[in-house]
Amino acid sequence: MNWNRWIRESHRWVSLAFTLAVIASFVALAQKEPVVWVSYLPLPPLALLLFSGLYLFVLPYVSRWRRADAARFPG
Ligand code: HEM
Repeated sequence: MNWNRWIRESHRWVSLAFTLAVIASFVALAQKEPVVWVSYLPLPPLALLLFSGLYLFVLPYVSRWRRADAARFPG
């Protein structure tokens, strides 16, 4: 599988894990005795989403620069 596609699919699946962790966090904090540690669970997937998301963001610009370069310096 292509590297860029791998990052995009990881971003998609990690976003699902992140959403579930946020829901779990709401439930844990709504208890009479809140289970605070559960509210930290979304942070690791959020960090992965930040880096993979920034990668996905710059991707189209990088391929545009590469195309422009290839046109200017053929071969
Ligand atoms: C934390 C910072 C984040 C950044 C910088 C970021 C950035 C991006 C970028 C640039 C794309 C590609 C858009 C495109 O060109 O098609 C993308 C796709 C996506 N993002 Fe994020 N994102 C972040 C967090 C999240 C979060 C928190 C969620 C959901 C809980 C999320 C869910 C998605 C999904 C589902 C896609 C579509 C992936 C696909 O192509 O199937 N992202 N994101």
